[in-house]
Amino acid sequence: MNLNESRFLKACRREPVDCTPVWLMRQAGRYMSEYRALRENYSLLTLCKTPELAAEVTMQPIRRFAMDAAIIFADILLPLEPLGLHLEFAKGEGPVIHNAISGPSDVANLRSFDVKKELGFVLDAIRIAVSKLEETPLIGFAGAPFTVASYAIEGGHSRHFLKTKQLMYKQPDAWHSLMEKISSMTSQYLQAQTEAGASAVQMFDSWVGVLSPEDYREYVLPYSKKVLSTQKVPVIHFSTGTAAYLEAICEAGGDVISVDWRIDLADARDQIGDRAVQGNLDPAHLLMAPERLRTEIRKILDSAGRKPGHIFNLGHGVFPETPVENVEILVKEVHSWKL
Ligand code: CP3
Repeated sequence: MNLNESRFLKACRREPVDCTPVWLMRQAGRYMSEYRALRENYSLLTLCKTPELAAEVTMQPIRRFAMDAAIIFADILLPLEPLGLHLEFAKGEGPVIHNAISGPSDVANLRSFDVKKELGFVLDAIRIAVSKLEETPLIGFAGAPFTVASYAIEGGHSRHFLKTKQLMYKQPDAWHSLMEKISSMTSQYLQAQTEAGASAVQMFDSWVGVLSPEDYREYVLPYSKKVLSTQKVPVIHFSTGTAAYLEAICEAGGDVISVDWRIDLADARDQIGDRAVQGNLDPAHLLMAPERLRTEIRKILDSAGRKPGHIFNLGHGVFPETPVENVEILVKEVHSWKL
């Protein structure tokens, strides 16, 4: 089969499909015993940097469920290392950056690098995964400039993003220079993933919902736009907490707009207009008893309104606590919905 005729890519282009395509953010991960077994022997960074292993993890959910797309196994923080930041995934703490950016000189000192060389392991993993996937399209991805910058500045996860906002407000030149560097690197990185064989790409702006609409437009939108407008395959623009400024999110770009559960999908589709939409089950609903879960899934499919251009997904990544049987139920329920 021609990948271009797959349900997932047809939905990205808003063409009619036989049933709604589905994949899940973080579909490879700790809720799967196959993944946990590999993690007993390898760290997260080793998995990401060993192309055969990254391709293998990419395949795990594809073997187990009837997903309509695979996503390459990697992490949005991998480009921090070649930029010159020391990244570690500390046990139980999540990511830690030991030399986080604290001012203009740190921004000036970031390395520029050749993505094809220094992130070549991701591109190799994509080539291997594509050769194994056959009928299933592969999604490449990167973090959005704001979300990547926030980790580089905060040094890890943050609740209020105060260091990030302080750099933005007090040292705007350094902020804009940082966003310029990250967005041009990200634009090239996603293009290289496409050249390696990714059929679509997703840009993750996980935490940008902490900004006001006005700050989003001034400090973020031009850089997200630069990344999104320079891609040659369908591009999914993911964010959370941005239901109040979907218009600005759409203005930044994306063939597919991925929304979270804080907005009704019908409402989101009205605002988004002539583009495909992805979402938007609350990932916590995957912890519900099966019958309630099925009801929640059907509500979303109903809200999507039987118009072409809906890709079923969560509003954010799968939780490690998710029963694997519920993911199976989800995929079956979505595929059985009559369009
Ligand atoms: O979706 C997939 O199946 C592909 C793999 C993938 C990972 N990270 C692997 C991973 C993807 C798409 C990501 C994206 C990512 N990474 C985001 C954006 C999506 C989101 O959830 O908002 C962010 C913010 C990160 C940064 C990151 N990586 C954090 C905050 C953490 C620690 C928290 C956590 O979930 O454990 C990670 C680690 C990480 N990246 C894991 C996986 C499978 C878990 C680590 C482990 O195996 O111990």
